[in-house]
Amino acid sequence: MTTLEKEKDAEANLALMVQTAQGFIRDETYLVTVLANISALIYSCLDDVNWAGFYILKGKELVLGPFQGLPACTRIGEGKGVCGKAVQEKRPLIVSNVHEFPGHIACDSASASEIVIPIFKNSAVYGVLDVDSPRLNRFSVLEEKYLNEICGGLSGFLERPGNRMDAAMLLQPGPPAIPARNIVP
Ligand code: SME
Repeated sequence: MTTLEKEKDAEANLALMVQTAQGFIRDETYLVTVLANISALIYSCLDDVNWAGFYILKGKELVLGPFQGLPACTRIGEGKGVCGKAVQEKRPLIVSNVHEFPGHIACDSASASEIVIPIFKNSAVYGVLDVDSPRLNRFSVLEEKYLNEICGGLSGFLERPGNRMDAAMLLQPGPPAIPARNIVP
């Protein structure tokens, strides 16, 4: 396979990942369920990734949400780490070498590079998507574009009337459950 063919293949995989995420966003009304499946999707679609997940902004702190990877720090203070910086600057950050990022928070000592993308609700930061890799310089601008599309889809989810963000709201009727035969082998 030529380099160009490999690049096209990689972009087709990213497009498929976004399409799958949009399906999760469309078919469910409970936020935690959507974030759990999207973290698993990103973790399994991208190679050389050791952590993929979400932090939700509660007051000034980021609080750990659904993720895949090793257990992580549960709360990140205002402006702390790459995640806090992305919230402050309201923009995606690609860090090619986390060891050179002042204040980087190492949840897994294997992490070498990282991408953080803010998620907005009505133009305010609601949380972040964070993806880590044990490989230096792992994340490309192309991946940022596709991961940003997923975060844009999540903004649509957060702004859609009737969707539920808190477990207590699960008492309200939701969409029909996926039949067990589809999820239990
Ligand atoms: N490295 C992040 C902290 C979260 S963990 O990587 C899962 C940061 O510096 O904000």
